[in-house]
Amino acid sequence: MLSLWRPLLALSLHVLLLLLPPGNCQMFGYNNGFHYQDISNGNGNGELYFNGIRLHVESDHPSVSATRGSSVTLPCHYHYEPELSTPRRTRVKWSWLPASVIAEPVASPAFYRESEVMVAMGNRHRSYGSFRGRVRLRRSAPGDMSLVINELQLNDTGRYRCEVIDGLEDESVTVELELRGVVFPYYSPKGRYHFNFFGARKACHDQDARLATFEQLFTAWEEGLDWCNAGWLADGTVQYPITVSRSGCGSEDLAPGVRNYGPRHRHNHHYDAFCFSASVKGSVYYLKSLAKLNFTEAVQACLREGSHMAKVGQLYTAWRLMGFDLCHAGWLADGSVRYPITKPRKNCGPPEPGVRTFGFPPLDMKFGVYCYR
Ligand SMILES: *[C@@H]1O[C@H](CO)[C@@H](O)[C@H](O)[C@H]1NC(C)=O
Ligand SMILES: *[C@@H]1O[C@H](CO)[C@@H](O)[C@H](O)[C@H]1NC(C)=O
Repeated sequence: MLSLWRPLLALSLHVLLLLLPPGNCQMFGYNNGFHYQDISNGNGNGELYFNGIRLHVESDHPSVSATRGSSVTLPCHYHYEPELSTPRRTRVKWSWLPASVIAEPVASPAFYRESEVMVAMGNRHRSYGSFRGRVRLRRSAPGDMSLVINELQLNDTGRYRCEVIDGLEDESVTVELELRGVVFPYYSPKGRYHFNFFGARKACHDQDARLATFEQLFTAWEEGLDWCNAGWLADGTVQYPITVSRSGCGSEDLAPGVRNYGPRHRHNHHYDAFCFSASVKGSVYYLKSLAKLNFTEAVQACLREGSHMAKVGQLYTAWRLMGFDLCHAGWLADGSVRYPITKPRKNCGPPEPGVRTFGFPPLDMKFGVYCYR
């Protein structure tokens, strides 16, 4: 498609329009109120652009998932059809919409404006914001404009746009970036349904996680998550996943699915939270110790190791992404007691894999401890 906004010299435009048969003009839609300036491309001969050569921008994978802390490549390449005889100068722009923005239901379209990740022209390039110094173009072949992002962070997820611009044409493709991770329900030490939206968001954060998006909860439901308590999601809705319909969890007659209460009042309504945690570089381990520990002793035991007590999100990721399996109940940093089971067996909880929880026992009770390093 020809761009609606590519800068273009007004003079060239006249030339081009003269070259076109009548009736073709409106297809280019140049009357959009933008200023046309600086045609920095080609040999200045308008015909070049209208000899049927088309710019194609493609991605092999419209959606990519990666692990936190690792590097990821978002594929994007372009070519011309038929091939160009004289090369054109192209500019590549990667921009993005963070997943948190996509999830927010807001009225103003300005809010959805993509922000820049990287702009490259020839060998020159520039990266922006939190991507500065973390991104580069792969350039493994002519036309390869794939974006490599290093040191992936939780908040890098979202929709990325690869846009190739030559003097006249402007084509783009989008690639979704997801982190491999795990969704887990979380409730307050004070009990069920104690979080308003902001409390839920902070609670997930404190567990090294984020409020889950609907897509993440839906995927978790497809993978078998069944939880009969409603929790906040990143978009401010309250939902819960049911794989086996039963009364008290929607209705027995209702098909299994993600039950949706819709958007709730962010300050006044209280629920649990669904958090999403993605893998981390460090590792979670159970501290071998002869005696069982109360909570204060557990805190100190991890510190003595040069570690910290594991957070709930960290235990869940270790369980889900690294197959962590241990039938010993241990303290975690939030004062809950849990243990991870990937191979269910006798005396280690129910027949499904999962992170077993004892809730928040009195802090003088004695258990093991999970540390994180
Ligand atoms: C994303 O997370 C990193 C690490 O937690 C933080 O330094 C950065 O400021 C965050 N970026 C945004 C845009 O929130
Ligand atoms: C844990 O035990 C220590 C003694 O080893 C005691 O000083 C501390 O108060 C206990 N902590 C709790 C929360 O009961």
